[in-house]
Amino acid sequence: MLATLSRLPKDSILGLAALARADERSNKIDLTVGVYMDDNGLCPVMRAVQEAQQQLVQAEVSKAYLPPQGDPTFVAEMPKLVLGAGHRALVETRTATIQTPGGCGALRIASEVLAVANPSAKVWLPNPTWPVHEPLLGSVGLKFARYDYYDYATHSLNFERMMQDLQGVKAGDAVLLHGCCHNPCGADLNAEQWQIVADLLLERGAIPLIDIAYQGLGDDLEHDALGVRMLASQLPEVLIAASCSKNLGLYRERTGATIFVTQSAEHAETALSQALGAARRLYSMPPAHGAILAGKVLADAHLNAMWQQELQSMTQRIQGLRNQLSVALTAATDCDFSFVAQEKGMFSFLGLTPAQVLQLREEQAVYMLDSSRINVAGLKDATVEPLAQAIAGVLR
Ligand code: LMR
Repeated sequence: MLATLSRLPKDSILGLAALARADERSNKIDLTVGVYMDDNGLCPVMRAVQEAQQQLVQAEVSKAYLPPQGDPTFVAEMPKLVLGAGHRALVETRTATIQTPGGCGALRIASEVLAVANPSAKVWLPNPTWPVHEPLLGSVGLKFARYDYYDYATHSLNFERMMQDLQGVKAGDAVLLHGCCHNPCGADLNAEQWQIVADLLLERGAIPLIDIAYQGLGDDLEHDALGVRMLASQLPEVLIAASCSKNLGLYRERTGATIFVTQSAEHAETALSQALGAARRLYSMPPAHGAILAGKVLADAHLNAMWQQELQSMTQRIQGLRNQLSVALTAATDCDFSFVAQEKGMFSFLGLTPAQVLQLREEQAVYMLDSSRINVAGLKDATVEPLAQAIAGVLR
């Protein structure tokens, strides 16, 4: 029977990351998968996480299952991180949170519950979006529509087109929005634009599904959550998929949460029961280690301050690399790359063709996605100029 299977193509991100890993050229620059690297090319275990881990190793006496909803401290802290401790949805106890295996698990649980609530819901995805959104949500049976998001010619958000497309949203549809640090383009909505989206969703009776996987890596933890907080205070229902992979550096620990903002405490309990049912069907109980660490870091004032300080220095480093790259590219190519300095988070498109991307890979050992998405956080001070020169070479 298994002999009848056909082989799938390699994943568009992980396949390239594997190719880059296998490349032994000493001038290699790997800007594929979205992982934060320091200036030594290492993805660090954050200091607060290290300290929490030492505490955990000393105190842990059991590896029995976590409760299906997850580590209680983590489950209590995550909505405060995302929504802000005094948010009215929290004060009114209209939220429910379930720990999930990473941000992917959070998206999957959100979409499972959405599909039960409205099996004919159409999910509006931005064009472009993270390539895994469609297979991940589609495997639940949800159908899609697309809204234009990014203008490749001007290297900026095309808000006018976005809102034109979203005029097609109907009651019961879901609109997927990137909470901050849009993956793959790095172009985010401003406060005024979030408000216009909130008004439209409210008017249509549609629900936002907010993927917030990079909180803290754009500007800071507060500013990056502006959109999600605004929608959660103005709309009766919001689905949120949050991840601790990037902002706590817990990538391999698979630590995330689905947060349901509902109309009442009772609706929140019901949504949670559906989420627990979906988790039981898929994986039963979430993994413990990362969520216990994240819970400790978020709940302990000393660890939390240490974490926020390190996170802010990572974010500043990414912004510094963006500024350097923008200047170096503009100087090397005579083209305007100022958009690289303006975009937020780990990712930007460089506007290269797939043929140019391939040439960079083969001739210069420079790895980026075929779409020319780069992970800015994969650069070092010393690789900015060589990257700019390599790109100038293929643009000539
Ligand atoms: C990325 O976009 O590179 C990250 O979100 C990692 C992944 O799973 O694709």
